[in-house]
Amino acid sequence: MTFQDQLNAIKSSAEVELNKVADLQGLETWERQYLGSKGELTALLKQLGSLTAEERPAAGRAANAVKVELTAEFEERRTTLAAAAADQHLVEDAVDVTLPGRPQIEGVAHPVSQMIRELSDIFALMGFQTVFGPEVETGRYNFDLLNIPSDHPARDVWDTMIIDSDHEEIVLRTHTSPMQARVMEQTNPPVRVIVPGRAYRYEAQDASHEWMFHQLEGLAVDETITLTDLKGVLQELARQLFGPRRRIRFRCDYFPFVEPGVDFAVDCAICDGKGCRVCKYSGWLEMGGAGMVHPSVLEGVGYDSERYTGFAFGLGVERLAMIRYGIPDIRVLFENDPRFLAQF
Ligand code: DAH
Repeated sequence: MTFQDQLNAIKSSAEVELNKVADLQGLETWERQYLGSKGELTALLKQLGSLTAEERPAAGRAANAVKVELTAEFEERRTTLAAAAADQHLVEDAVDVTLPGRPQIEGVAHPVSQMIRELSDIFALMGFQTVFGPEVETGRYNFDLLNIPSDHPARDVWDTMIIDSDHEEIVLRTHTSPMQARVMEQTNPPVRVIVPGRAYRYEAQDASHEWMFHQLEGLAVDETITLTDLKGVLQELARQLFGPRRRIRFRCDYFPFVEPGVDFAVDCAICDGKGCRVCKYSGWLEMGGAGMVHPSVLEGVGYDSERYTGFAFGLGVERLAMIRYGIPDIRVLFENDPRFLAQF
């Protein structure tokens, strides 16, 4: 075969193959086969040297012309294929902007958290600062500094979950009261704080008992604080929570860290104190314990109990939330069923 014949053969087979190329990837293969440095045309050009001096110029020109032509055809094909590929992309990635969006699930604060926020707001207006404390406590804060010595039977009242008793006594706090001592140790009077938070007890669960629950502790210490101040604050709390007609009731009770100690209740807002299912036909809703801070507690944190007096109280947050939202069973609060939680 003459040089020209070989050139013609390459050109026509290259053109036939180029027509069959279907995508950019195929086009790359084609380029390598015909125009690339190891391609057929390049191989043929290398044979120019074996021609005679007379044949060489014409053959060179012919070969170059073929190269220019094939390159132009190649470019044209590439433009067409690239456009087709872009079109296909657009079709495949098409977004239907008329499709309605998927609804976002919007969370709400847990009813217990809502209750705590509401209580915080009420107490803030009476000058109480909200503070938080550790849920894992030492026996010293949970008991000793609250006038509950190690061997005192009163310690049994709090069914304690113990974390460590070998070295130091470490417990899950059984109430929020340990923060009384922590706060007083770190500040001088006047003190006015509330402490919302979790407490833990080793307890059988039922509709009104959980092993984990929330309390809200209150503490006020100053030079002239009396039981009247305690009554006024709790009275105001009851009215803010349940309306201006509410009255509160104090009855004697015993807590080692107060003297005198009381339990306090509010007359039932649902039946106006007449008796109904919510108040178990007593007309009163129990809210918590309270009293005048025991002198031993004040002395324990280095306060002069001749100069300072104070009141403290502790109330159950779940109980308030259950009354406020009409929840009959404490356990549903912590089952985390979204159908329940979404109602608040
Ligand atoms: N800590 C007590 C409890 O969990 C509740 C309590 C009673 C707190 C009297 C007080 C108080 O601050 O004065 O049973």
